[in-house]
Amino acid sequence: MSMTYGQAKEKLARYGQEHVLRYYDELTEKEKQELLAQIENTDLSVTAFCARREELVRRGKITPLKAMELPEIQAGKADFYRLGEEAIRGGRVGAVLLAGGMGTRLGSDEPKGVYNIGLTKDVFIFERLIRNLLEVVESTDTWIHLFVMTSDKNHEATAAFLKEHDFFGYDSGYVHFFRQDMAPATDYNGKVYMESRCRLATSPNGNGGWYISMKNAGMSRIVEQAGIEWLNVFAVDNVLQRIADPVFIGAVLDKNCDVGAKVVRKNAPDEKVGVICLEDGRPSIVEYYELTEELMEARDADGSPAYNFGVILNYLFRVSALDGLLKKQLPLHVVEKKIPYMDETGKLVKPEKPNGCKFENLVLDMIHQLESCLPFEVEREKEFAPIKNKTGVDSVESARALLLQNGVEL
Ligand code: UTP
Repeated sequence: MSMTYGQAKEKLARYGQEHVLRYYDELTEKEKQELLAQIENTDLSVTAFCARREELVRRGKITPLKAMELPEIQAGKADFYRLGEEAIRGGRVGAVLLAGGMGTRLGSDEPKGVYNIGLTKDVFIFERLIRNLLEVVESTDTWIHLFVMTSDKNHEATAAFLKEHDFFGYDSGYVHFFRQDMAPATDYNGKVYMESRCRLATSPNGNGGWYISMKNAGMSRIVEQAGIEWLNVFAVDNVLQRIADPVFIGAVLDKNCDVGAKVVRKNAPDEKVGVICLEDGRPSIVEYYELTEELMEARDADGSPAYNFGVILNYLFRVSALDGLLKKQLPLHVVEKKIPYMDETGKLVKPEKPNGCKFENLVLDMIHQLESCLPFEVEREKEFAPIKNKTGVDSVESARALLLQNGVEL
């Protein structure tokens, strides 16, 4: 039984959102229950941050953080591989696929992983990722637990698609779905938009919510039972990335860091990737739009660019360090986006330009709360083919070219 009308009204009043109940009397009994349940389950405290969005972006003092570069990795490769392989064989490594995003830039109504990038045959994004992980499963002769984060908006479609394709050969007993939490979406005054008369407009709460959402969904039981000590989190859209890469795992273990971040050497000072660094002495990531001219031009003692490595959203987290993070609050990012909403006449409007705010936690902020981070260089031509757009930079086209270059048939 969800909260009563009175309780809902009281909660909404606390956050200045009484308009949400405007059509309540006209709703069916079922719709009323759905709306009350959604009000109960939605964290409305974030809406207050809309007005404060300017203050939220302040940063501390940025200084360089050295990466482990390719020559050093090459020299230690055999040892790192052995360490990583041992961890995988011991069941100490799990993988987490972040697939809760809306993929708005790609412009498909389906989940991003369902997108077919094949030319002469079907090649789905999910398929590429699973095949990459299967290579490690085969070489280590060990199944790796794969947790898949979806959202309310794409859960059914994602789970059904993977089942229909028999998980592309992955053992389904090792695949676990969990949904991320949703956040309300508001206009610029912080008033929650309505999607219909009985639904608040919501969107996934950002990729930084993955660990808490995993916990809330009861996944820790699997993590504990399997004895997983490390979680390799990765984005849905990089079709070339290596997942549960034994060399990367071994290097992070060897350096005894709380987290490892796969990074690529930037291809231009203003490339649109977040840059790994220290902020007030702790590991951190500066987003490309926050990178000042001064930081772009800064040099190391040996003359190379001081902020030269970009993150590719492939991280290896120590589970015990993640548990420590649960006690802390992650900063909230207020992002201006296009939010479909119901207008005064009851019609659903799909705006052409941003019309309000979404509230997100980002995975990169988790890094800043940890003690130590190993940036681990990978060759971008071999491991970085993100699909964000249909054409142009980081697109279906550029990813196809890179896949073909790496001998993947499309
Ligand atoms: P992006 O930041 O590229 O966002 O996500 P997106 O939603 O996929 O795409 P756009 O911006 O709407 O075009 C990076 C990774 O984080 C995941 C995405 O699925 C992708 O793997 N993500 C993002 C989530 O899992 N949940 C979120 O709330 C946001």
